Amino acid sequence: PRVGIVVVAAGSGTRLGAGGPKAFVGIDRHSILRHALDGVFAAPEAQVVIVVPEGREGDARTEALEASGDRSDLVTVVTGGATRQESVAAGLRALWGDVEIVLVHDAARALTPPEVFSRVVGAIDAGADGAIPVLPVIDTIKRVAGEEIVAAVDRSELASAQTPQGFRRDVLDAAYAAASAEFTDDAALVADAGHAVSAVPGHPLAFKITTAADLDRARHLLAAAPE
Ligand code: CTP
Ligand code: MG
Repeated sequence: PRVGIVVVAAGSGTRLGAGGPKAFVGIDRHSILRHALDGVFAAPEAQVVIVVPEGREGDARTEALEASGDRSDLVTVVTGGATRQESVAAGLRALWGDVEIVLVHDAARALTPPEVFSRVVGAIDAGADGAIPVLPVIDTIKRVAGEEIVAAVDRSELASAQTPQGFRRDVLDAAYAAASAEFTDDAALVADAGHAVSAVPGHPLAFKITTAADLDRARHLLAAAPE
């Protein structure tokens, strides 16, 4: 396939505090990782690299088998690193063959609809070096210094970034090879390497499960949705 998707699932889930790696925590009868993979395999066909904590490779393979149906030949599982950036780098090294477009996706955004993947790929196909899904910022944002409100920030200039974040493979590989610092996301790392990154519409369901309240929200959404 010409699209590769790196699903990063190697985090420890400190803020969720569920007593184990976040990707393997159940939402309903299925884990966060399984739900994320269901979205990935509903998107246009892609090579899929799943990055997991050391020791969870076999569990991830089982989840991938169930989610991919008969396309498990497209799946590779690798061990992640201490930071998200290291985990992404490990995933990139595992891509093989003729992949031209790489999407990096947080497993923690477990309910991301397939259409978001298509939008990101569409923007790269239309000529962008990179494209990320964004949502408008809802809250009024202030710049603060200690207890002092320094300024209001113009909300129309702000957006919150989601995943999957997509890039031309050569651009992403080169940017990762050149990266000498930690970046907040792949778009920032690629922008630092001098490439323009465009925005496509994100989706409310692509929210990241970070805290226990986020997990509750995912549970309610799935309970309300027909299978
Ligand atoms: N991730 C990863 N490798 C790491 C850290 C994070 O693959 N060393 C992945 C997570 O599994 C997650 C995504 O990056 O899917 C976004 O990270 P985050 O939501 O911060 O997850 P955790 O790092 O697991 O959570 P926390 O920061 O609360 O510990
Ligand atoms: Mg983290």
